[in-house]
Amino acid sequence: MRELNLYRRRLRIVRGKGVYIWDDEGRRYLDAIAGIGVAVLGHTHEEFSSAMREQMDKLVVAGPMFNHEEKDQAIEELSRFSKFEHVYFCNSGTEAVEAALKFARLETGKKEVVAMTGAFHGRTFGSLSATWRRRYREGFEPLVPGFRHIPFNDVEAAKEGITGETAAVILEPIQGEGGVIPAREEFVRTLRDVTEDKGVLLIADEVQSGLRTGKFMALEHYGVQADIVAMGKGIANGVPIGLTLLNFDVPRSKHGSTFGGNPLSCRALATTLRILRRDGLMEKALDKWIDVQGRDVILTRGRGLMIGVLLRKDAWSYVLKLQQRGLLVNTAGRRVIRLLPPLIITKEQMSWIKGLMEDVLQEDEERRS
Ligand SMILES: Cc1ncc(COP(=O)(O)O)c(C=O)c1O
Repeated sequence: MRELNLYRRRLRIVRGKGVYIWDDEGRRYLDAIAGIGVAVLGHTHEEFSSAMREQMDKLVVAGPMFNHEEKDQAIEELSRFSKFEHVYFCNSGTEAVEAALKFARLETGKKEVVAMTGAFHGRTFGSLSATWRRRYREGFEPLVPGFRHIPFNDVEAAKEGITGETAAVILEPIQGEGGVIPAREEFVRTLRDVTEDKGVLLIADEVQSGLRTGKFMALEHYGVQADIVAMGKGIANGVPIGLTLLNFDVPRSKHGSTFGGNPLSCRALATTLRILRRDGLMEKALDKWIDVQGRDVILTRGRGLMIGVLLRKDAWSYVLKLQQRGLLVNTAGRRVIRLLPPLIITKEQMSWIKGLMEDVLQEDEERRS
């Protein structure tokens, strides 16, 4: 048997330490993908690994119907960052979004969901219905009825496209897969005003933007509060998890997940948030931003350690060249190089990344001229 070949990167990874990983030929890479924004504490973080080992020997499984110390600790840590009344635990970003969409329909009694052009919310049917790109959707229709897209960052479209019939609006404060594009202040404020006005719930998808923009949630930069938030990726430093934050109750048995809130992922979440908080790693992300320059660079965008470098040309060949030079990055859309490094990365390491990227871009320009 072979793994279904859905991805084009075929590097064989053997081990990791801090911001570095090694392949099976002993080559070292600075890992600025970090499992697509997951290993926020880097690889094999000693304190994290030791908490995981301890947990493996204590308790790994407890059905979602039971309470345990690890769940209490996870909730206590989450409460330090967010004032939401409830958290629903699941296992991935797309499940966190599914739950958000289902809860919104249940709470409002309405069906319509408004999403944004360029959006990415996951691959399961509800999340996929809110996702924009045709490439992800094609071949899987019919998707879930009741989903519409309005142009991202278009204030007038926000005013016109959301109605009293809308159950929820779903927004990535910084679009990740769509090309690392921050939402404009005026757009976010308009969305909040219009949704409040019309009895519509605002869902923030912070699966990618959470933790790495200088705040717990990227939406905090806008001074706006969402009604429901979906998180995932790095919040448990690589142990699979998703969570949905909300302020209203959902009737018993209406939703659930076998693995949701298991002791291992809860311990991983509590440990990750405690270390991030103690070491000020979220705040420090802002100072580690780099602005990559070059003739082929249109601009560098994003915030903190969620960085997209928009090129005049296809990004993929650069990704491969950077890999040959010891740096792992990926793309977000055709012309954007995306960096989602561990939050433990140092400013010096970020400068090294900037230097290397600029060198590789420059060499390419020289070869062409
Ligand atoms: C904004 C956003 N939402 C949802 C998801 C889906 O998360 P997962 O791949 O864990 O299902 C992603 C994944 O990249 C994402 O970037």
